[in-house]
Amino acid sequence: MEVNVCVGSSCHLKGAHAVINKFQEALGEAPVKIKLGASFCQGRCTEGVIVAIDGVIYERVSPDDVPSLVEKHRGGCGIR
Ligand code: FES
Repeated sequence: MEVNVCVGSSCHLKGAHAVINKFQEALGEAPVKIKLGASFCQGRCTEGVIVAIDGVIYERVSPDDVPSLVEKHRGGCGIR
């Protein structure tokens, strides 16, 4: 599973780093391998925090959304 969290100015202000921290927690708990990265502004600032998972874009992501997103994508590529 490849995850990219937008850390542009707007997403940063909306809590991107809290979302990243939650994904980092999931790294040790998830039954899948997660490649976690950050991206610059994705041009959807009003909808942030923007997260791309295996090419699928999610808007308004909060830390509370992370477990369900990991669960949703756990069947994708990168299964250990
Ligand atoms: S700062 Fe994240 S979409 Fe613009």
